[in-house]
Amino acid sequence: MIRIEKVKDIYGALIDGPSIPSKQNITINNSNLTLLPALIDPHVHFRTPGHEYKEDWRAASQAAIRGGYTTVFDMPNTLPPTITQTYLKEKKTLIDAQLKEVDIPLRYHLFFGADKKHLDEIVKVKEDIIGIKVFMGCSTGNLVIDDDESLEKVFCIAAENNLLVAVHAEDEQLLQQRKHEFLDRKEYAVHSEIRSVQVACRAVKKAIALTKRYQTRLYILHVSSQEEVRLIDHAKQAGLPVYAETTPHHLFLDTAAYPLLKGKAVVNPPLRLAADRKALFSAIHAGIIDTIGSDHAPHTPAEKEQPYGECPSGMPGIETTLSLLLNAHYENLLSLEEIISLTSKRAREIFNLEKTNDMVLVDLKKEIKISDKDLKTKCGWSPYAGMVLHGCPVYTIFNNYCYQTN
Ligand code: DOR
Ligand code: ZN
Repeated sequence: MIRIEKVKDIYGALIDGPSIPSKQNITINNSNLTLLPALIDPHVHFRTPGHEYKEDWRAASQAAIRGGYTTVFDMPNTLPPTITQTYLKEKKTLIDAQLKEVDIPLRYHLFFGADKKHLDEIVKVKEDIIGIKVFMGCSTGNLVIDDDESLEKVFCIAAENNLLVAVHAEDEQLLQQRKHEFLDRKEYAVHSEIRSVQVACRAVKKAIALTKRYQTRLYILHVSSQEEVRLIDHAKQAGLPVYAETTPHHLFLDTAAYPLLKGKAVVNPPLRLAADRKALFSAIHAGIIDTIGSDHAPHTPAEKEQPYGECPSGMPGIETTLSLLLNAHYENLLSLEEIISLTSKRAREIFNLEKTNDMVLVDLKKEIKISDKDLKTKCGWSPYAGMVLHGCPVYTIFNNYCYQTN
């Protein structure tokens, strides 16, 4: 039996948690701990199949649990990409085998990749996916929908089949044009200039216009700037079914990170200005941002050391997101209600997930130093290494098992 006694609820009141049948015999009696629902990560790249040298579900499931997460939604830009029913089935088989090896039945759902040549596959898999992922601009891998006709088809098919469309909103044409304009610049920081706010906004506008036409449920991934927030606010006020996600790196890092992190700071969409971070926090308070997705996108340190142009975009995040959020709470930047809303409540509502009694017990004050050597992610590094934070997950409880994480 797992017994939880005399812990705190989010208002600071002492409560007894539930007793959970288990082969473990543990009593957690600790008033320094606060009980939260376990986290849902609507946006991860766990790299199976094809890129298991960067990450796999054996390592990533442990990283998730260590970070307080028990549910993840995985993205389709794998090798092969998840763009056919056959590939989807094969991916599931591989994931299940890897999770079995480590005996962690992590809850997961898969996004299906929209690909021009395989749009007819969507209806075949509609019962088996959490939504359709559209890369409106190229990122890691070669999935992209860069013409208006195909994009419109995706929104139409999704609406007909009551599927949600999740967009990576960066406009491919503008992106390519700007890449050319900046060809002579080789420093990593030029990434934020090439993939400008305008590049993101052009795509966000297009996606919202299609939602207006088809009433497709639209989930805008990794919102990174004040201007995107404004567009989304308008769409929400107009009553459109538009939802917005931001990421830990867009909340807690900005372009000032390039000199220290170099290639490790390169991510799509790119890091923005400090003013944008501030706007994202305001958008959380205003309910314009619904969720936080870690966008856990591991690459090896050697890959990230390559010069600009060869260095792949993306950074790991699932292990550190909750501590970053709790530290923001410690600094009075976020309430615990907002953290719950961002990390589980809104995702459950938007994606119609069943309720679970998965839990995480956190210490709101404990000081931790992020260190690469403690990480479970296979890539073995974090952009936050060296940061001292207040607050961390201590126990993650699910599937009748209690994992100590700190
Ligand atoms: O920086 C990113 N990395 N952005 C993406 O859209 C994809 C991701 C990856 O898979 O590496
Ligand atoms: Zn992503």
